[in-house]
Amino acid sequence: MSSDTYALAGSDVTIPLLGVGTWAWGDSSTWGMGTYDTGLTRDSIREAWEASIDAGATLFDTAEVYGGGESERIIGSLLAADLPRAARVVLATKFMPSPWKLNVRGALLASLRASLGRLGVDSVDLYQIHGPISLRSHAALADALAAAHGEGLVRAVGVSNYSVRETRSIAGALERRGLRLATNQIEFSLLRRSPETSGLLAACADLGVVPLAYSPIGQGRLTGKYSAAAPPPGKRSFSNHPMEVVDGIVAELRAIGGDHDGKQPSQVALNWVISKGAVPIPGAKNRHQAEENAGALGWRLDGDEVARLDRAALGGIRSLASRVWQHG
Ligand SMILES: NC(=O)c1ccc[n+]([C@@H]2O[C@H](COP(=O)([O-])OP(=O)(O)OC[C@H]3O[C@@H](n4cnc5c(N)ncnc54)[C@H](OP(=O)(O)O)[C@@H]3O)[C@@H](O)[C@H]2O)c1
Repeated sequence: MSSDTYALAGSDVTIPLLGVGTWAWGDSSTWGMGTYDTGLTRDSIREAWEASIDAGATLFDTAEVYGGGESERIIGSLLAADLPRAARVVLATKFMPSPWKLNVRGALLASLRASLGRLGVDSVDLYQIHGPISLRSHAALADALAAAHGEGLVRAVGVSNYSVRETRSIAGALERRGLRLATNQIEFSLLRRSPETSGLLAACADLGVVPLAYSPIGQGRLTGKYSAAAPPPGKRSFSNHPMEVVDGIVAELRAIGGDHDGKQPSQVALNWVISKGAVPIPGAKNRHQAEENAGALGWRLDGDEVARLDRAALGGIRSLASRVWQHG
């Protein structure tokens, strides 16, 4: 790692310390596009895209299931409309390995080609297995990823929602096929600290795997705009803790942000994730959110502040199956 990038193992891809999640782009049921959030539009997404890239948050994370493919289609149109910015983008998408996809190699290659079509590209920088829900072995999944890599369709390969044991196992299966596991995308934030306390972050460091932190601002709960009196709308089941408890963490984020020229709670929360060696991928629906989140870059919490936030944080254990099946 250089000071402001991580190299993805087994590839020539580098990623910044902060990315952008695009689940909300084109999604109505959880994020309200076309339903409860009338401010989430193609224009607001384009502005979030531009502001993120301009601020150096150039890693964009999507998935075949986000908005039923709409997130990838939107990204495809953004890439095509602005080639100078497109040249700076690092593109990550995911394969949903549903249990009924028993011919996992054929299913993965078909899904990947469909994703490439929606994105309008010949290859992606990072292709991830969305969760450990396949009935097939890690050897079979590694064979499928190796086939995609061998055909030049993906530059680096990763997983998501994998435990310590699963991460070590698939990393070994990939290594036996001449590939390296580059990333493991996990829920990690001040509302879900278990990847740190369970040893998952340490295992990733040991294997040279970069942890990508999803829902890093607790699906908006750590931004300070929601509270017990004004809870978030929609079906946000990740990081879903009683807002009375969350309010105490937000108060600590505000206090620490105040000592850093008035950094916002979201910026402090993201900086905490970065300080743990993970790359947060916060969702952004508009220019303001993208710019604010990018303000997590360029400064660092000190050790005492990290320890204060560690004490304020929650463990936040949730059922893995429900997280994966929510299609986040
Ligand atoms: N691999 C997986 O299983 C999985 C699961 C979940 C997510 N992910 C990935 O991780 C990404 C991020 O996770 P997430 O979207 O669940 O949660 P998040 O990043 O913690 O929260 C994103 C939401 O918070 C609000 N927000 C963002 N920035 C803000 C700001 N500066 N000020 C105020 N509000 C702000 C927005 O919603 P509102 O404006 O509506 O409040 C936004 O959609 C996803 O987009 C996806 O790419 C992956």
